[in-house]
Amino acid sequence: MMKKRLVRILVILILGLGTAAAIAAYQIQTEGHQSLSQYNETNPSIIAKDFGGDFTLVNQDGETVTQDNYANQWRMIYFGFTYCPAICPTELQKIAQALNAAGDKADQIQPLFISVDPERDTVEVMKNYTALFHPRLIGLTGTLKQVEQAKNAYKIYAAKVQDETMSDYTVDHSSFIYLIDPEDNLRAIFKTEDKAEEITQVITTILP
Ligand code: NI
Repeated sequence: MMKKRLVRILVILILGLGTAAAIAAYQIQTEGHQSLSQYNETNPSIIAKDFGGDFTLVNQDGETVTQDNYANQWRMIYFGFTYCPAICPTELQKIAQALNAAGDKADQIQPLFISVDPERDTVEVMKNYTALFHPRLIGLTGTLKQVEQAKNAYKIYAAKVQDETMSDYTVDHSSFIYLIDPEDNLRAIFKTEDKAEEITQVITTILP
């Protein structure tokens, strides 16, 4: 009787550990990022019209900007946060690589990095961070309310998560690179799986 119960407890424990390990492995793998959508290579014309919306944010030089500052031009927008351990820096590096490789056409594109963690991503932090990736990369942050508005405008999911293995929190967020044309049409969405070369190819194909 006793032995049977012990075995059962042991089995439950092992299953529990296995599940916990699997969840941990999944979390490490996805690193709190979501990937939902994808660029439709067969129809690259327009994915969505009137994409995005109104926002008021502060750039890395401390200037208040709105959507109007970037209107009527090509934009590549990525939402993330500077404390992100792996995916955000990888995605920003991809943007920089793709722009550099796309030549003159890429000069039309304004790359924007919008923080989903304004509490830690101050203007100064954004200034230092964006400089690591591309000279034309603009970093935008703001108050919690301002960032919330920008997130909603671009349908970005982001939520603070307390990580027990770390003293500080992390931010679970969707990870998409949006390519938007001067008429506010969403023209491409790049996911974490997409390589810089693929982004370059889309830029050189779609941009005039
Ligand atoms: Ni990230």
